[in-house]
Amino acid sequence: MKISTPNCDNCVFTEELGRDFNIRQKSQGLAASIKNFIRPSYKLVEAVRSLSMRIGFGEIVGFLGPNGAGKTTTLKMLSGLLFPSRGKLEVLGHSPFSREREFLSQISLVMGQKQNLWWDLPPIETFEIHRSIYNLDEKDFRGRIEELIDMLEISDCLETQTRKLSLGQRMRCELAVSLLHRPKVLFLDEPTIGLDILMQKKIRKFLLDYHARFKPTILLTSHYMDDVAALAKRVIVINNGLKIYDGLLSDLTEKMQPEKIITVILNSETFPKIEIPNVNIVSQESNLFRLKAPRENVGKLAAALYNTGLTIDLTIEDTPLEDIIGNLFTEKSNFQQFRTNV
Ligand SMILES: Nc1ncnc2c1ncn2[C@@H]1O[C@H](COP(=O)(O)OP(=O)(O)O)[C@@H](O)[C@H]1O
Ligand SMILES: [Mg+2]
Repeated sequence: MKISTPNCDNCVFTEELGRDFNIRQKSQGLAASIKNFIRPSYKLVEAVRSLSMRIGFGEIVGFLGPNGAGKTTTLKMLSGLLFPSRGKLEVLGHSPFSREREFLSQISLVMGQKQNLWWDLPPIETFEIHRSIYNLDEKDFRGRIEELIDMLEISDCLETQTRKLSLGQRMRCELAVSLLHRPKVLFLDEPTIGLDILMQKKIRKFLLDYHARFKPTILLTSHYMDDVAALAKRVIVINNGLKIYDGLLSDLTEKMQPEKIITVILNSETFPKIEIPNVNIVSQESNLFRLKAPRENVGKLAAALYNTGLTIDLTIEDTPLEDIIGNLFTEKSNFQQFRTNV
């Protein structure tokens, strides 16, 4: 069912979307286990409590949150694998759970921990199967497959049984198969999980190149903040099934991290007089000084230090993005601050 709504500017639209699960309670001890077997008790888990978001066509959005926050459940609802318990939901103007052919042929869900490739077949045969499922024209298929093989550097693993591939090879073949029908929307759930840093970088670069060429809308979850920083300008952060931040990643880092740490080695054990406001010396070990300064003053501070002629070495550090995001869930004050922005 294609829905005609004023949401046509949004590729993804949800309003107070929610999904509950009834989980069977486990019991301790034999007597309780027997009782629970005869009359099982259930507990309601609100995996996604209320989530409203709008994502425009061609955007890349990082979807972040701790384990159990509700990210995978949301992506499953957006791709039509799970029926929502409440709220509104549209992707490309469709109601995902109807799972119409027209809708399914325009989306892809890639899950780092699950696979679309057939375990016993070499990837090239899975590609052929997908060609027939999606009814792709032979010429289009050949062109796309060659392009993807080239971009993902997978020419040497196409004929090998999937079960014998390394995780990195398999993940790149997963991406190839998911992109064969050239989806307009790509849901990526931990696409680089378990991969080494080199392979993570390869996949990141591929996604950037692919996005530059074909401009799909991408909603991406990842535990690796380098993925998010490299790919997404905007992030949506959720916790306990609720949105706690939606905005630019740069705004988030700026607000959550108003200061930077500057480490400077001087050829003097006396710190020079510098007329820059709010610069604090945090520690000193002979001629090595650690300073804290507001982000906006760091450039001026570095210049002033170099101009003294005393500076041997100077480094400027950011709080790692992992810590910034982590703080969103642990620091009550910051949490409150961001709730007001949502
Ligand atoms: N099929 C399911 N049955 C029961 N509970 C589930 C199911 N899927 C997810 N949950 C629960 O919903 C919550 C959110 O899970 P999930 O969406 O996988 O979070 P995330 O992907 O952010 O780690 C968790 O508490 C999880 O245990
Ligand atoms: Mg998940």
